[in-house]
Amino acid sequence: MIWIDTDMGLDDILAVMIIAGHRDISGISLVFGNAPLEQVRKNAAGACSLLGWRTPIHTGAANAILGETITPAHVLGPTGIKTRGARLPECPPVPESPAQAALCTWLESLDAPGEILALGPLTNLAILALSRPDLLTKIAKITWMGGGAGRGNQTASAEFNAFADPEAVQIVVNSRVPLDIVDLELCRQVLIGPDDLLALEASGTEKGLVLADLCGAYVDIALERGREKMAVYDPCAAAALVIPEAFTFAPGFVAVELAGTHTRGRTVLDQRPGVPPNCRWAMHADAPRVLSLTLETLQKAALS
Ligand code: RIB
Ligand code: CA
Repeated sequence: MIWIDTDMGLDDILAVMIIAGHRDISGISLVFGNAPLEQVRKNAAGACSLLGWRTPIHTGAANAILGETITPAHVLGPTGIKTRGARLPECPPVPESPAQAALCTWLESLDAPGEILALGPLTNLAILALSRPDLLTKIAKITWMGGGAGRGNQTASAEFNAFADPEAVQIVVNSRVPLDIVDLELCRQVLIGPDDLLALEASGTEKGLVLADLCGAYVDIALERGREKMAVYDPCAAAALVIPEAFTFAPGFVAVELAGTHTRGRTVLDQRPGVPPNCRWAMHADAPRVLSLTLETLQKAALS
Protein backbone atom coordinates (compact mmCIF):
# COMPACT_ATOMS: atom_id res chain seq x y z
CA MET A 1 0.00 0.00 0.00
CA ILE A 2 1.16 3.48 -0.78
CA TRP A 3 0.20 7.05 0.15
CA ILE A 4 0.84 9.98 -2.17
CA ASP A 5 1.47 13.53 -0.94
CA THR A 6 1.22 16.01 -3.80
CA ASP A 7 0.82 19.61 -4.94
CA MET A 8 -1.17 18.36 -7.97
CA GLY A 9 0.48 20.00 -10.93
CA LEU A 10 0.56 18.27 -14.32
CA ASP A 11 3.65 16.22 -13.53
CA ASP A 12 2.11 15.21 -10.20
CA ILE A 13 -0.98 13.97 -12.06
CA LEU A 14 1.22 11.88 -14.38
CA ALA A 15 3.02 10.45 -11.34
CA VAL A 16 -0.29 9.49 -9.69
CA MET A 17 -1.41 7.88 -12.97
CA ILE A 18 1.79 5.80 -13.08
CA ILE A 19 1.35 4.58 -9.51
CA ALA A 20 -2.38 3.94 -10.01
CA GLY A 21 -1.55 1.57 -12.86
CA HIS A 22 0.69 -0.59 -10.68
CA ARG A 23 -0.13 -0.20 -6.99
CA ASP A 24 -3.08 0.27 -4.64
CA ILE A 25 -3.11 3.90 -3.51
CA SER A 26 -4.45 4.14 0.05
CA GLY A 27 -4.88 7.89 0.07
CA ILE A 28 -3.69 11.18 -1.33
CA SER A 29 -2.87 14.30 0.69
CA LEU A 30 -2.62 17.73 -0.87
CA VAL A 31 -0.16 20.49 -0.10
CA PHE A 32 0.34 24.00 -1.50
CA GLY A 33 3.07 24.23 -4.13
CA ASN A 34 2.37 24.36 -7.84
CA ALA A 35 -0.57 26.61 -6.89
CA PRO A 36 -2.22 27.88 -3.71
CA LEU A 37 -3.91 25.05 -1.79
CA GLU A 38 -7.45 25.99 -2.84
CA GLN A 39 -6.42 25.68 -6.51
CA VAL A 40 -4.53 22.45 -5.80
CA ARG A 41 -7.84 21.09 -4.42
CA LYS A 42 -9.59 22.12 -7.66
CA ASN A 43 -6.84 20.49 -9.75
CA ALA A 44 -7.30 17.29 -7.76
CA ALA A 45 -11.06 17.37 -8.36
CA GLY A 46 -10.49 18.01 -12.08
CA ALA A 47 -8.03 15.12 -12.32
CA CYS A 48 -10.52 12.82 -10.58
CA SER A 49 -13.21 13.84 -13.04
CA LEU A 50 -10.98 13.40 -16.12
CA LEU A 51 -9.27 10.20 -15.04
CA GLY A 52 -11.91 8.50 -12.91
CA TRP A 53 -9.82 8.37 -9.74
CA ARG A 54 -11.69 7.06 -6.71
CA THR A 55 -8.89 7.32 -4.13
CA PRO A 56 -9.79 9.42 -1.05
CA ILE A 57 -8.12 12.85 -1.25
CA HIS A 58 -7.36 14.95 1.82
CA THR A 59 -6.45 18.58 2.36
CA GLY A 60 -3.14 19.39 4.00
CA ALA A 61 -0.97 22.46 4.50
CA ALA A 62 -1.68 25.77 2.80
CA ASN A 63 1.54 27.39 3.97
CA ALA A 64 5.15 26.59 4.63
CA ILE A 65 6.20 25.97 8.22
CA LEU A 66 8.27 29.14 8.51
CA GLY A 67 9.04 30.87 5.25
CA GLU A 68 6.97 32.83 2.80
CA THR A 69 4.43 30.76 0.82
CA ILE A 70 5.47 30.75 -2.83
CA THR A 71 4.06 29.27 -6.03
CA PRO A 72 5.52 29.17 -9.58
CA ALA A 73 2.55 31.12 -11.03
CA HIS A 74 4.94 33.13 -13.24
CA VAL A 75 5.80 29.88 -15.11
CA LEU A 76 2.67 27.75 -14.77
CA GLY A 77 -0.11 30.34 -14.56
CA PRO A 78 -2.71 30.69 -11.80
CA THR A 79 -3.87 27.06 -11.85
CA GLY A 80 -0.37 25.61 -11.52
CA ILE A 81 -0.99 23.69 -14.75
CA LYS A 82 0.20 25.41 -17.92
CA THR A 83 -2.15 25.05 -20.87
CA ARG A 84 -2.22 25.51 -24.65
CA GLY A 85 -5.97 26.05 -24.36
CA ALA A 86 -7.46 22.91 -22.83
CA ARG A 87 -8.23 22.59 -19.14
CA LEU A 88 -9.01 19.90 -16.63
CA PRO A 89 -12.79 19.70 -16.06
CA GLU A 90 -13.89 22.68 -13.93
CA CYS A 91 -14.92 21.18 -10.61
CA PRO A 92 -15.48 22.44 -7.09
CA PRO A 93 -12.49 21.70 -4.83
CA VAL A 94 -12.27 18.18 -3.40
CA PRO A 95 -14.23 18.07 -0.13
CA GLU A 96 -12.49 19.36 2.99
CA SER A 97 -10.98 16.38 4.83
CA PRO A 98 -7.97 17.01 7.07
CA ALA A 99 -4.85 15.29 5.76
CA GLN A 100 -3.09 14.86 9.10
CA ALA A 101 -5.96 12.90 10.64
CA ALA A 102 -6.27 10.76 7.50
CA LEU A 103 -2.53 10.04 7.34
CA CYS A 104 -2.48 9.05 11.03
CA THR A 105 -5.51 6.80 10.61
CA TRP A 106 -3.87 5.12 7.62
CA LEU A 107 -0.56 4.56 9.42
CA GLU A 108 -2.32 3.25 12.54
CA SER A 109 -4.26 0.78 10.41
CA LEU A 110 -1.19 -0.77 8.78
CA ASP A 111 -0.02 -4.27 9.73
CA ALA A 112 3.28 -3.71 7.91
CA PRO A 113 4.96 -0.34 7.28
CA GLY A 114 3.65 1.52 4.22
CA GLU A 115 5.38 3.69 1.65
CA ILE A 116 4.87 7.38 0.95
CA LEU A 117 5.52 9.08 -2.38
CA ALA A 118 6.03 12.82 -1.87
CA LEU A 119 5.78 15.08 -4.92
CA GLY A 120 5.68 18.59 -3.47
CA PRO A 121 6.88 20.64 -0.50
CA LEU A 122 7.34 18.32 2.51
CA THR A 123 5.16 20.40 4.86
CA ASN A 124 2.50 17.72 5.50
CA LEU A 125 5.10 15.07 6.29
CA ALA A 126 7.08 17.41 8.54
CA ILE A 127 3.93 18.20 10.53
CA LEU A 128 3.28 14.46 10.84
CA ALA A 129 6.86 13.85 12.01
CA LEU A 130 6.57 16.54 14.71
CA SER A 131 3.05 15.73 15.88
CA ARG A 132 3.07 11.92 15.75
CA PRO A 133 6.68 10.67 16.03
CA ASP A 134 5.25 7.41 17.41
CA LEU A 135 3.88 6.63 13.94
CA LEU A 136 7.13 7.06 12.04
CA THR A 137 8.11 3.39 12.39
CA LYS A 138 4.98 2.65 10.35
CA ILE A 139 6.60 4.37 7.34
CA ALA A 140 8.82 1.97 5.40
CA LYS A 141 10.19 4.72 3.21
CA ILE A 142 9.48 8.16 1.82
CA THR A 143 10.41 8.63 -1.83
CA TRP A 144 10.59 12.36 -2.55
CA MET A 145 10.94 14.28 -5.80
CA GLY A 146 12.81 17.30 -4.62
CA GLY A 147 16.12 18.90 -3.89
CA GLY A 148 19.11 19.17 -6.10
CA ALA A 149 22.86 19.27 -5.89
CA GLY A 150 23.33 21.19 -9.14
CA ARG A 151 21.66 24.15 -10.86
CA GLY A 152 18.37 25.08 -9.23
CA ASN A 153 15.04 25.66 -10.97
CA GLN A 154 13.42 28.02 -8.47
CA THR A 155 16.55 29.92 -7.55
CA ALA A 156 20.09 29.63 -8.85
CA SER A 157 20.79 26.99 -6.24
CA ALA A 158 17.44 25.56 -5.08
CA GLU A 159 14.86 23.18 -6.49
CA PHE A 160 11.21 24.32 -6.12
CA ASN A 161 9.86 21.71 -3.68
CA ALA A 162 12.85 22.19 -1.36
CA PHE A 163 12.78 26.00 -1.63
CA ALA A 164 9.03 26.12 -0.95
CA ASP A 165 9.57 24.74 2.57
CA PRO A 166 13.22 24.13 3.50
CA GLU A 167 12.45 23.72 7.21
CA ALA A 168 10.03 20.90 6.35
CA VAL A 169 12.76 19.09 4.42
CA GLN A 170 15.15 19.31 7.37
CA ILE A 171 12.47 18.09 9.79
CA VAL A 172 11.72 15.07 7.58
CA VAL A 173 15.44 14.30 7.20
CA ASN A 174 15.90 14.61 10.98
CA SER A 175 13.00 12.18 11.57
CA ARG A 176 15.28 9.38 10.30
CA VAL A 177 12.48 7.81 8.27
CA PRO A 178 14.19 5.98 5.37
CA LEU A 179 14.32 8.55 2.57
CA ASP A 180 14.96 8.13 -1.16
CA ILE A 181 15.56 11.44 -2.93
CA VAL A 182 14.90 11.78 -6.65
CA ASP A 183 16.43 15.18 -7.26
CA LEU A 184 16.41 17.72 -10.06
CA GLU A 185 19.59 16.42 -11.69
CA LEU A 186 18.19 12.89 -11.85
CA CYS A 187 14.95 14.17 -13.39
CA ARG A 188 16.94 16.08 -16.00
CA GLN A 189 18.19 12.72 -17.29
CA VAL A 190 14.63 11.96 -18.47
CA LEU A 191 13.51 14.43 -21.13
CA ILE A 192 10.25 14.78 -23.03
CA GLY A 193 9.93 16.63 -26.35
CA PRO A 194 7.17 17.51 -28.84
CA ASP A 195 7.66 14.30 -30.88
CA ASP A 196 7.03 12.15 -27.82
CA LEU A 197 3.46 13.47 -27.73
CA LEU A 198 2.49 12.69 -31.32
CA ALA A 199 0.79 9.38 -30.47
CA LEU A 200 -1.18 11.00 -27.66
CA GLU A 201 -2.24 13.82 -29.97
CA ALA A 202 -3.35 11.23 -32.52
CA SER A 203 -5.39 9.26 -29.97
CA GLY A 204 -8.43 11.28 -31.00
CA THR A 205 -10.20 10.82 -27.68
CA GLU A 206 -11.39 13.76 -25.60
CA LYS A 207 -9.27 12.63 -22.65
CA GLY A 208 -6.25 12.11 -24.89
CA LEU A 209 -6.57 15.59 -26.37
CA VAL A 210 -6.75 17.25 -22.94
CA LEU A 211 -3.72 15.29 -21.75
CA ALA A 212 -1.83 16.05 -24.99
CA ASP A 213 -2.59 19.77 -24.65
CA LEU A 214 -1.44 19.94 -21.02
CA CYS A 215 1.66 17.83 -21.69
CA GLY A 216 2.41 19.99 -24.73
CA ALA A 217 2.18 23.11 -22.58
CA TYR A 218 4.51 21.43 -20.07
CA VAL A 219 7.04 20.83 -22.87
CA ASP A 220 6.56 24.48 -23.93
CA ILE A 221 8.21 25.53 -20.65
CA ALA A 222 11.49 24.22 -22.08
CA LEU A 223 10.86 25.37 -25.66
CA GLU A 224 10.20 28.94 -24.46
CA ARG A 225 13.62 28.85 -22.80
CA GLY A 226 15.40 27.72 -25.96
CA ARG A 227 15.68 24.07 -24.95
CA GLU A 228 14.35 21.21 -27.08
CA LYS A 229 12.99 19.03 -24.30
CA MET A 230 11.62 19.34 -20.79
CA ALA A 231 12.74 17.40 -17.73
CA VAL A 232 10.20 14.91 -16.43
CA TYR A 233 9.99 15.61 -12.67
CA ASP A 234 7.43 13.81 -10.52
CA PRO A 235 6.96 10.80 -12.86
CA CYS A 236 10.63 9.94 -12.19
CA ALA A 237 9.90 9.52 -8.48
CA ALA A 238 6.85 7.40 -9.30
CA ALA A 239 8.90 5.30 -11.71
CA ALA A 240 11.50 4.71 -9.00
CA LEU A 241 8.78 2.80 -7.13
CA VAL A 242 7.29 0.98 -10.12
CA ILE A 243 10.51 0.04 -11.95
CA PRO A 244 13.20 0.32 -9.24
CA GLU A 245 15.59 -1.73 -11.39
CA ALA A 246 15.75 1.25 -13.76
CA PHE A 247 17.39 3.42 -11.09
CA THR A 248 20.61 3.41 -9.14
CA PHE A 249 20.74 5.05 -5.72
CA ALA A 250 23.77 5.81 -3.58
CA PRO A 251 23.82 6.48 0.16
CA GLY A 252 24.59 10.03 1.23
CA PHE A 253 24.12 12.61 3.97
CA VAL A 254 21.76 15.40 3.01
CA ALA A 255 21.28 18.71 4.80
CA VAL A 256 19.26 21.72 3.72
CA GLU A 257 20.48 25.30 3.65
CA LEU A 258 18.04 27.25 5.84
CA ALA A 259 19.78 30.57 6.17
CA GLY A 260 21.77 31.46 3.06
CA THR A 261 20.87 34.70 1.32
CA HIS A 262 21.45 33.11 -2.07
CA THR A 263 21.28 29.45 -1.14
CA ARG A 264 18.18 28.97 1.05
CA GLY A 265 16.50 25.69 0.09
CA ARG A 266 19.64 24.21 -1.42
CA THR A 267 20.09 20.55 -0.52
CA VAL A 268 23.73 19.73 0.18
CA LEU A 269 24.71 16.13 -0.46
CA ASP A 270 27.75 14.84 1.40
CA GLN A 271 29.15 11.57 0.06
CA ARG A 272 32.61 11.77 1.62
CA PRO A 273 33.89 8.49 3.05
CA GLY A 274 33.15 8.13 6.76
CA VAL A 275 30.13 10.47 6.75
CA PRO A 276 27.13 8.43 7.97
CA PRO A 277 24.33 8.49 5.37
CA ASN A 278 20.81 9.68 6.17
CA CYS A 279 19.24 9.09 2.75
CA ARG A 280 19.63 7.36 -0.58
CA TRP A 281 20.18 9.74 -3.49
CA ALA A 282 19.14 8.75 -7.01
CA MET A 283 22.22 8.84 -9.23
CA HIS A 284 21.13 7.35 -12.52
CA ALA A 285 17.91 6.50 -14.37
CA ASP A 286 17.37 4.34 -17.43
CA ALA A 287 15.83 7.32 -19.23
CA PRO A 288 14.22 5.46 -22.17
CA ARG A 289 12.47 3.08 -19.75
CA VAL A 290 11.18 5.86 -17.53
CA LEU A 291 9.97 7.88 -20.50
CA SER A 292 8.29 4.80 -22.02
CA LEU A 293 6.50 4.11 -18.74
CA THR A 294 5.25 7.70 -18.68
CA LEU A 295 4.11 7.74 -22.32
CA GLU A 296 2.49 4.29 -22.09
CA THR A 297 0.58 5.45 -19.01
CA LEU A 298 -0.68 8.49 -20.90
CA GLN A 299 -1.64 6.45 -23.94
CA LYS A 300 -3.51 3.90 -21.86
CA ALA A 301 -5.47 6.65 -20.10
CA ALA A 302 -6.29 8.31 -23.42
CA LEU A 303 -7.73 5.09 -24.81
CA SER A 304 -9.54 3.91 -21.67
O1 RIB B 1 10.94 21.15 -9.15
C1 RIB B 1 9.99 20.29 -9.68
C2 RIB B 1 8.86 20.07 -8.71
O2 RIB B 1 8.20 21.33 -8.48
C3 RIB B 1 7.80 19.12 -9.18
O3 RIB B 1 7.32 18.39 -8.09
C4 RIB B 1 6.71 20.04 -9.70
O4 RIB B 1 5.45 19.44 -9.66
C5 RIB B 1 6.82 21.20 -8.76
O5 RIB B 1 6.14 20.90 -7.58
CA1 CA C 1 4.93 18.32 -7.66
